[in-house]
Amino acid sequence: MADFIEIRPNELTDNPFELIGKDWALVTAKNGEGCNTMTASWGGVGIMWNKPVAFTFIRPQRFTFGLMENENYYTLSFFDDSYRRQLQFCGTKSGRDVDKIAECGFTPVYDGDAPYFEEARLVLVCRKLYAQTLNKESIISEKDVLPQYAANDYHKMYISEIVKVLKKG
Ligand SMILES: Cc1cc2nc3c(=O)[nH]c(=O)nc-3n(C[C@H](O)[C@H](O)[C@H](O)COP(=O)(O)O)c2cc1C
Repeated sequence: MADFIEIRPNELTDNPFELIGKDWALVTAKNGEGCNTMTASWGGVGIMWNKPVAFTFIRPQRFTFGLMENENYYTLSFFDDSYRRQLQFCGTKSGRDVDKIAECGFTPVYDGDAPYFEEARLVLVCRKLYAQTLNKESIISEKDVLPQYAANDYHKMYISEIVKVLKKG
């Protein structure tokens, strides 16, 4: 069992722009008795409804999308640089076609219904609070946003309470 310690969200010292945008996250949710994971580099963390939250954006064609819809919990896991190849793999292969977790050699750990990986250096355990699909009518700057949705595949935004932060001790 990995040596994670639980810290409060306020104790996080990572820069969120680096963490999400540059290091990337794995979004992991239960898939039956097991789990599936995909890479994400869009999203954020902050405060909403007086709670620490994560904002996660998933396109409808992802295998992960159906899992996110079914489950109340998911995790965002962050890794050190030595896992870059695995994160690239999990961002280009689908759980529909391949057992990414086995291929990457990740060791799933379950915190109740929230799966994460022993190999992570930081894990945010997320509980869904609110979800909404982005839409064309709400776009304010079409030149910035519309090109992202040529296939009409608008992300669904999940605002989730960060119920636990686990950090390698
Ligand atoms: C660096 C990187 C960041 C990504 N960020 C997102 C994201 O924020 N949201 C999303 O829906 N897909 C994102 N993707 C694409 C998914 O990770 C990719 O389509 C993956 O194969 C989906 O796996 P799944 O079908 O098992 O869910 C990203 C891919 C990469 C390589």
